[in-house]
Amino acid sequence: MSVHIAATVAGSSGRTRNGREPATPAATSAWASDAGSAAGDAVLMRTLVLRTFGDPLRLEQVRRPDPGPGEVLVRIGASGVNPLDTKIRTGSAAHARVALPAMLGMDLAGAVVQLGPGVRRFAVGDEVFGMTGGVGVVPGSLAEYAAVDADLLAVKPPSMSMVQAAALPLSVITAWEGLVDRAAVHAGQRVLVHGGAGGVGHVALQLARARGAEVFATGSGAGLEVIRSYGATAIDRTTTSAEQYVASATDGVGFDVVFDTVGGAVLDSSFAAVRTYTGHVVSVLGWGSHSLAPLSFRGATYSGVFSLLPLLTGQGRAHHGQILTEAAGLVESGALSPMVHPEQFGWDGVTSAHHVVETGAARGKVVLDLTRPPGSTGLRTAAATRTER
Ligand SMILES: NC(=O)c1ccc[n+]([C@@H]2O[C@H](COP(=O)([O-])OP(=O)(O)OC[C@H]3O[C@@H](n4cnc5c(N)ncnc54)[C@H](OP(=O)(O)O)[C@@H]3O)[C@@H](O)[C@H]2O)c1
Repeated sequence: MSVHIAATVAGSSGRTRNGREPATPAATSAWASDAGSAAGDAVLMRTLVLRTFGDPLRLEQVRRPDPGPGEVLVRIGASGVNPLDTKIRTGSAAHARVALPAMLGMDLAGAVVQLGPGVRRFAVGDEVFGMTGGVGVVPGSLAEYAAVDADLLAVKPPSMSMVQAAALPLSVITAWEGLVDRAAVHAGQRVLVHGGAGGVGHVALQLARARGAEVFATGSGAGLEVIRSYGATAIDRTTTSAEQYVASATDGVGFDVVFDTVGGAVLDSSFAAVRTYTGHVVSVLGWGSHSLAPLSFRGATYSGVFSLLPLLTGQGRAHHGQILTEAAGLVESGALSPMVHPEQFGWDGVTSAHHVVETGAARGKVVLDLTRPPGSTGLRTAAATRTER
């Protein structure tokens, strides 16, 4: 196959210590027939590349990366889609920029096929999952292979499919950083999750319950039943004011912890919904301007979560691997189960998958099954969206 090398995508895991040349995309008009096809000395792989902000991702071939020191080469089985992926694609995520051309996709599940120097935690053949790239200069998971910093990975829960496992990483890392690292949620507390049926929210309410808290969550429409199905008390945000649910759920005392996944006015209302002195608000969308007066007059506290930091800075990556190991234990114990959107998407479904997320039409996490051949579409059964392993 004749390959025209068009441009540079980015360096492997973004680590300067690797000293390797970056993966290089090459325009192609046909699907790669097989992983690892050779052109000259280069071993090629299929990937989806963003060349212009706002444009659809393009199927291209690039040179397959080699794992550098501390990295493993992962053959990717599934790539999770998060709202942030769609914001990065349109160039509207000021806090999560990529250099073009870029390989997007933050979450993955796959199998280790090669170890870089110094890797001891994994062996070839291990099935793994993680939030591994798709932001900054770190190539993402919309590819057949990725060279991944092993610190970012954990062994995939054995009972989960690749698709289920790829639904978890960003959501559970974000929820864990908020509820465990910042708020130290524990038994006996009352926790309110805003956006409890969302990608982060439905994981957060399971995590809070697993830690023994009594959990309440705001949502609307069909999301209310999702919230109830995970054992939390659903609050219809379209019919219930903050004053009303603080009164009914906490006798007016306020929640011990409010975990906000919505931001804006919902974060403002969170500052007035926590109890005095010990109340704690955590937000994953604390990017706006807010009056701290309601929080300050309660003597309460606030924390932000920005789970991209380890990918952007290189610091704290091992903690993400640890969180995922803990999460895998919760999955195996039955305490954590991601909800997967019933419509299936493969390589040629990325535009549709992004559209579902962008329009708020997702009923659970949207995941691209990269083991599916091009042209495949289909529906999971309703039961499979919760129980598929
Ligand atoms: N800081 C970080 O590290 C970090 C990490 C991950 C995600 N995020 C951000 O967090 C946000 C949520 O992510 P996600 O994956 O959970 O998104 P998602 O799946 O789209 O869920 C958002 C949820 O918010 C709910 N919602 C919307 N308006 C609401 C309101 N006024 N009150 C209560 N709930 C409301 C929606 O439910 P209904 O509209 O149906 O009620 C929906 O369930 C995104 O903007 C994402 O970019 C930040």
